[in-house]
Amino acid sequence: MKTGARRTQLRRLIAGIAGIAVYLMATGPAPGQISGSAHDFSSAGWSRHQICLPCHTPHNAMEVEVNGYGAGRLWNHALPSQGQVYGMRSGELMRDDALDAYSLLCLGCHDGTVALDSFGGRSGSVYISAARVRPSARASTLLGVDLTDDHPVGADAVWPEIEPEGLNPRGAWENQVFGGSRMGRLRPMRIDGQEQWVVSCATCHEPHRRGGHDGLLRIDNSASQMCLACHSK
Ligand code: HEC
Ligand code: HEC
Ligand code: HEC
Ligand code: HEC
Repeated sequence: MKTGARRTQLRRLIAGIAGIAVYLMATGPAPGQISGSAHDFSSAGWSRHQICLPCHTPHNAMEVEVNGYGAGRLWNHALPSQGQVYGMRSGELMRDDALDAYSLLCLGCHDGTVALDSFGGRSGSVYISAARVRPSARASTLLGVDLTDDHPVGADAVWPEIEPEGLNPRGAWENQVFGGSRMGRLRPMRIDGQEQWVVSCATCHEPHRRGGHDGLLRIDNSASQMCLACHSK
């Protein structure tokens, strides 16, 4: 990545962190944030009792690049290896052909191939569990490397340039505000040498529980309104 772009990213991250800090000071812990969420690992020893550190670092961050596309500001967590194969609807595909860079940030913990405590350049030994870790968890958070039983992401979820039957036009939902929260964006990836825009884990999920929605979702999904944002049914 070019230094200028990095600097802009750094500035944005610092502004973001400062914003969160000011927000915390002004309001104290509230439900709409990462503290106390499923992504607050600070009570676990493997996190070194930090919230941000397993995912972000202020210094010596990794450069995440997948087929020319970056993701994850000041990223600190190891990704699945480049040779990792995923079960996709179109068959078995290697990591970089299967998934966009943002989905890979998530799968670095959720596919179970990389330890949770593999961050900051160390390789860890605590893996995400198939068991429900918290009593409040609705299901296992281990997705595995067979993604054919999950909602399509990456190469399985290319957004058609011409809207097909059954999907709402991109402009009708992307970044629209639903009940005060913003729906996520499609993310770019390279498929057969072409730039495509795809549904990513980060399109539906907000890893910091910004907005305070169940399941770390970007918008509230009661009455399936998140599903209906994209699918016209
Ligand atoms: C479980 C992993 C995880 C944890 C823990 C986490 N983040 Fe993030 N963060 C992400 C991911 C993934 C992205 C990229 C999301 C995207 O662009 O959709 C991100 C993006 C960001 C961004 C830039 C874009 C944005 O969404 O504002 C900031 C700033 C940020 N995180 C700050 C923090 C801070 C501060 C903490 C600790 C209080 C934290 N994050 C904890 C995963 C995490
Ligand atoms: C550092 C490792 C790590 C990364 C990176 C990470 N997660 Fe998680 N995530 C976890 C762990 C561990 C849990 C389970 C916590 C528990 O059950 O107590 C979890 C839980 C969740 C849950 C369950 C929420 C709930 O309320 O039950 C969702 C959804 C989720 N993660 C989505 C994501 C998405 C999407 C990304 C990428 C944007 C991501 N995660 C990145 C480690 C991670
Ligand atoms: C089309 C939207 C969508 C996409 C894309 C998506 N998810 Fe989810 N995910 C959901 C919904 C909805 C839930 C259920 C949330 C709730 O109400 O608890 C969920 C639940 C989860 C859970 C909790 C366990 C479970 O099975 O309920 C995890 C972990 C998770 N997602 C991770 C991911 C990861 C990692 C990716 C990318 C590989 C991803 N999700 C992509 C919509 C999505
Ligand atoms: C961000 C837009 C978006 C959201 C939100 C979304 N979907 Fe999808 N969904 C897609 C795309 C794109 C595909 C792939 C379409 C294709 O290639 O045929 C898809 C495919 C599907 C499929 C077909 C899967 C298969 O095996 O062929 C089902 C079923 C589905 N979605 C259900 C849901 C449900 C349920 C929700 C809410 C939890 C949801 N979707 C939310 C965009 C979305």
